[in-house]
Amino acid sequence: MNATYERTNEAPVGVGLLGLGVVGSAVAASLLSADGQRSGLRLCAALVRDPSRPRAVELPSGTMTTDPDSLLASPDVDIVVELMGGEEPALEYITRALSAGKHVVTANKEVISKHGERLRNLASENGVSLQYEASVGGGIPIINPLLDDLIANQILGLRAIINGTTNYILTQMAAGGASFEDALADAQRLGYAEADPTADVDGFDAVYKIAILARLAFGVSVPVEGIYREGIRRTASQDFRYAEELGYTIKLLAAARREDGGLLVRVHPALVPTDVPMAKVEGVLNVVEAEGDLVGPLWFQGRGAGAEPTASAVMGDVLRAASVFRGRGNVPRARQIDPDLPLLDMAEHQCRYYVRLTVRDQPGVLALIAGALGDMEISIAHVLQMDDDPELGSAELVIMTHPAREANMQRAVERIDALGDVDTVANLIRVESYPSDR
Ligand code: NAP
Ligand code: HSE
Repeated sequence: MNATYERTNEAPVGVGLLGLGVVGSAVAASLLSADGQRSGLRLCAALVRDPSRPRAVELPSGTMTTDPDSLLASPDVDIVVELMGGEEPALEYITRALSAGKHVVTANKEVISKHGERLRNLASENGVSLQYEASVGGGIPIINPLLDDLIANQILGLRAIINGTTNYILTQMAAGGASFEDALADAQRLGYAEADPTADVDGFDAVYKIAILARLAFGVSVPVEGIYREGIRRTASQDFRYAEELGYTIKLLAAARREDGGLLVRVHPALVPTDVPMAKVEGVLNVVEAEGDLVGPLWFQGRGAGAEPTASAVMGDVLRAASVFRGRGNVPRARQIDPDLPLLDMAEHQCRYYVRLTVRDQPGVLALIAGALGDMEISIAHVLQMDDDPELGSAELVIMTHPAREANMQRAVERIDALGDVDTVANLIRVESYPSDR
């Protein structure tokens, strides 16, 4: 690794790693590199579950441990870097480290999204820093810009692709080559997916990340249970074909935007026009679009997962924590909570919709569906009849609507599903709105 860390002759700052997996190993390699050592950082201990597992990095003997108590109590450890993942025991160890006056760096979005407020207060009470740049967007600097460089702005909106695994899967499916299962297995082999892919595929990971970003951007404490969440399991290969015919691709989006009366935070698959830049963010790349009242639109793109990009963000935090430890400056604090910005319910959302249905291929069916939509004040923009099956007497219909309220659309779907000639409403995908089509 080539780096140009600040060099120092001061006494070393001790680092204790909790976890030596994909990210922990890359962070350890960076700490052990000549530049890491010249910058005055010393890797004192690394906690693992199973010391017999092969590692991507060779540690000095005696550094690896299975005893969290000795690491957390060690007077040599000034900065604790939590890279275990999951809620517990990570939360307990971070709490203990902060309470013992140690600076903490973590990449753990679950812990920060659920317990960030309490941990930030604990860090402040103990006069230490808590940093989590790697918790969102892997190597992309986004937390610190929101905390610091953009602090003079009122943030109007964020829209992001912040889960590398699902973006990789959707990209493979869009290219026409891969099934959902094969693309997921590939993402796991490459170290992008969490051990339990549910967190990625069902949208939990993106929910944790947008909750963290929304807290920093809008000064609103966003409970993860309050965020609308829909994953990518329903997205089928034909959705990509039909979307392409209509001029779109499909992405898992996470968004938070000031609307009339509050803030709407949502995670779901969306049809994105193929000619907007977000449609071209492929594979494990992540992107965060931010809009500030002073700065206007901004675009942060980069590798959102993987060992070295994530280690880049973690090491940035570790070097900042070392500066704070040495009495040089402080890390920026989160915005004050804004009591006047309530969270809005997804029922308030308004957009166009793509609806895929399997129906009996016979006269009058379309009129019934149009009637159910019309009753809910939803107007149809396009209808495509795709993939007929003459043997079964069925056909697949794709309907694109004009903008409608989510609550109305959900009621219309219930009514359509109950129609005798409709086998199933196989998918409902929201169409993301961009300035050119607003
Ligand atoms: P990982 O490969 O699964 O590594 C986890 C490490 O933690 C392993 O070394 C494991 O020990 C250790 N560990 C887990 N539970 C433990 C316990 N109870 N006691 C002791 N050690 C324990 O995970 P990762 O991919 O490096 O991810 C680490 C963190 O970074 C997570 O919060 C993740 O969300 C975040 N992150 C990851 C990426 C990425 O691309 N992978 C990107 C951004 C953020 P053993 O090795 O002995 O099993
Ligand atoms: N599983 C996560 C992703 C890793 O796919 O984006 C980065 O947090």
